[in-house]
Amino acid sequence: GQPHIARDGAVLRVEQADLQALAREHGTPLFVYSKQWMLDALAAYRRGFEGRDALVCYAMKANSSLGVLRVFAEAGCGFDIVSGGELARVMAAGADVGKVIFSGVGKTRAEMRQALEAGIACFNVESEAELDVLSDVAVAAGKRAPVSLRINPNVDAKTHPYISTGLKGNKFGIAHDRAVEVYRHAASLPGLTVVGIDCHIGSQITEASPYLDALERVLDLVQAIEAQDIRLQHLDFGGGLGIDYNGDTPPAADALWQQLLARLDARGFGDRKLIIEPGRSLVGNAGVCVTEVLYTKPGEEKNFCIVDAAMNDLPRPAMYEAFHRIEPVVLKVDAEPVRYDVVGPVCESGDWLGRDRELAVQSGDLLAVLSAGAYCMSMASNYNTRGRAAEVLVSGSEARLIRRRETVEDQLRAEQLL
Ligand code: LLP
Repeated sequence: GQPHIARDGAVLRVEQADLQALAREHGTPLFVYSKQWMLDALAAYRRGFEGRDALVCYAMKANSSLGVLRVFAEAGCGFDIVSGGELARVMAAGADVGKVIFSGVGKTRAEMRQALEAGIACFNVESEAELDVLSDVAVAAGKRAPVSLRINPNVDAKTHPYISTGLKGNKFGIAHDRAVEVYRHAASLPGLTVVGIDCHIGSQITEASPYLDALERVLDLVQAIEAQDIRLQHLDFGGGLGIDYNGDTPPAADALWQQLLARLDARGFGDRKLIIEPGRSLVGNAGVCVTEVLYTKPGEEKNFCIVDAAMNDLPRPAMYEAFHRIEPVVLKVDAEPVRYDVVGPVCESGDWLGRDRELAVQSGDLLAVLSAGAYCMSMASNYNTRGRAAEVLVSGSEARLIRRRETVEDQLRAEQLL
């Protein structure tokens, strides 16, 4: 369930806010998020970690809107960033930079300098070449960079190939077999202080077993690394926990972590500081995208329901053939449903939001695309010169605009005629 997103009679609401009223006020497409859903998701992780020295670093790439970042900053979270832009965002949201960790395979020197200057907690380094550059940059800045090496544990996360990251064939992390050697190199560099180890095996993981496998593989390495007199203060197990899009049943965050902590304790590593980097599981089911039906178009093979949201707003179906539930904002009891492909106005056949959906709709009706809190707005683009949608954050009966709709002036601002 999604207790914070439910019907009040016929009308779908987010917490106490009526989506029909919000769409009237702010227009469509409109993203609406439940603050309480986010806080509950965070609380589940924290229950799992009760009594431990653990830090949740929200992987802000999932949804990097300032209003969302502020929710997690106020709740005392750290953040996992992947660019200088994300660092600037997280600082603008008032986050504690001392709890920021920096992931990603392609950090530039400028981004390294910016993060060192800001005083982030840790660089999650993904290659030997990056280690050398980071050490140089730190020495030149008169600083030491705290580092963790991202290990590729070579386990199958059993998810979509585009969002699986912990296999040998992926571009991410340092190969398990080379890890000890690379740690020795890191420890010898003048600009670095080794502080931890990390891994991230993929996203939308719906089973516990890949996590348990990765944990064992990482702990084997911790033993081997510490045998070289390199002490690891923290262990970071990444993010990746899935959400329910279409009846998926991922383990609950608290249950998963109780299981993982039992293994950690059994192997004698229960005293280490723990970091995790969840993204999707903190925001994914907190959000919906409200869109208006523009036209229905019956066809010989397919009926199309053309809506005002598109692949530029909700790129996951086009990119991963991802499934998002689509529901009418106002339920009609007597209308006969028709099978539609729900598509956007963008000039591509890949611009679909849902296929073969039974809906009783006509022009002007509102639909809600569910599970739209993660990797939707943060991946939105201006393709077809479409302005990005507005966003509203709901807390109880209070609904606040956290991003106004992007105008065409906003889009033209950075360009000039020659
Ligand atoms: N840490 C690292 C190093 C990551 O690369 C990611 C996500 C996370 C944490 C957070 O993973 P999560 O808890 O959200 O699964 N756009 C795709 C998902 C890409 C995930 C990229 N990395 C999608 O819409 O499914």
